[in-house]
Amino acid sequence: MRADDVRLRREAIDPVQLKKIEEALHAFHNLETMAANIYKFQITKVPSELNRQLIAAMANEMTHLQDFQVKLYEFGLRPAISRTFYWMLGFCFGFGSRLLGLKTILKTGIWVETKAVEHYAELLRNVDWDDQSRKMIGKNQADEDGHINRWRHLLLNQGVAEGEALSAK
Ligand SMILES: [Fe+2]
Ligand SMILES: [Fe+2]
Repeated sequence: MRADDVRLRREAIDPVQLKKIEEALHAFHNLETMAANIYKFQITKVPSELNRQLIAAMANEMTHLQDFQVKLYEFGLRPAISRTFYWMLGFCFGFGSRLLGLKTILKTGIWVETKAVEHYAELLRNVDWDDQSRKMIGKNQADEDGHINRWRHLLLNQGVAEGEALSAK
């Protein structure tokens, strides 16, 4: 990200619209906090394909978190206090599913990402975003779709996820 990419967006916004933007950005920021934490706490030391993909997904969620955090400050807003609750929720889902094993890890990912895609669609529909913000939100939504496909693929090919294919080569 370059300094020129940052815009101060609050001035021209109607207060009713700003309230909607605030609620939407808080929801996005909270959900991305949860998503990044889920993957972070699902990762183990095992050198498997699953762990490789989980690290990539965590990194991707961290860029989403960055996008929404920047957006909040551009609009003169701040992250919500409730994000600590979503951090905890991410820890519980992440660590809990890790204890229950591969299938639960993948199913948790699919479930959370499906909810995220629905939520993204709703917030894209209900808020009058500027072009730049809408483009960023659309790109992040497409990333979530990519995550769902990756977890579905690994769920169908659990041997690959566990690293059988890697060690057999
Ligand atoms: Fe995300
Ligand atoms: Fe995601």
